[in-house]
Amino acid sequence: MNNFESFRVRWNSRAENWDSEISKPDHYANFEAGYEKFLKFEEDILSEFGEAEAGIDLGCGTAVAAGPMAEKVNNLFLLDLAESMLAEAIKKYPGAIFLHSSVTAIPVEKETMDYAVSRGVVISHLPPGEQGNFLTEVKRILKPDGMFIFDFLNNLKTADFHLSSEKTVYTIQEITEVLRGFGFEVMMVDGDENSRVVRVAAWKS
Ligand SMILES: C[S@@+](CC[C@H](N)C(=O)[O-])C[C@H]1O[C@@H](n2cnc3c(N)ncnc32)[C@H](O)[C@@H]1O
Repeated sequence: MNNFESFRVRWNSRAENWDSEISKPDHYANFEAGYEKFLKFEEDILSEFGEAEAGIDLGCGTAVAAGPMAEKVNNLFLLDLAESMLAEAIKKYPGAIFLHSSVTAIPVEKETMDYAVSRGVVISHLPPGEQGNFLTEVKRILKPDGMFIFDFLNNLKTADFHLSSEKTVYTIQEITEVLRGFGFEVMMVDGDENSRVVRVAAWKS
């Protein structure tokens, strides 16, 4: 996790207050009702499917985005590189399996997950060049036809706050092509070219 040490330290320091921070409507994570929209999108997609064996939240933080998936799967996996985030997540889901790792090196067997979710534009926050490692890992751990639901930065012109580090931004067409290159087909998109954050559900094809 050496490449990610600064992220680990930064997110550890925010873990204890994360849930209270994001409860504020003016928090940046709530820009364009980001949390609400992600949870609704996840719920809508998963409502199309029955119970499943396993699902994983990648960059789970305090496990807010894991909520809708947790109701669908027998085995919930929660992964984050910040151990203090995992310590908060365990309070909500004591029965989950916790993985202290990077999304670019996921310590689970191949083809074991029915669903993977990742909220918080984790793909856009990764250091440049790590996006491919992330998508390769998600593809590896998903079962055939498994589904990946995540969000990404799409249009920074709408953001009126300072970004502390370089971010990877995709248009909807670009993410569709990137996903296809890694063996996914986009099933549904929520957002448009004016949205700062766009949500996508993609099948492992
Ligand atoms: C914006 S927070 C989102 C947390 C949570 N998904 C949510 O929606 O509330 C980003 C989370 O991703 C984690 N993270 C960042 N880079 C990561 C990486 N390379 N591998 C695993 N987790 C990572 C951070 O530790 C942090 O908990």
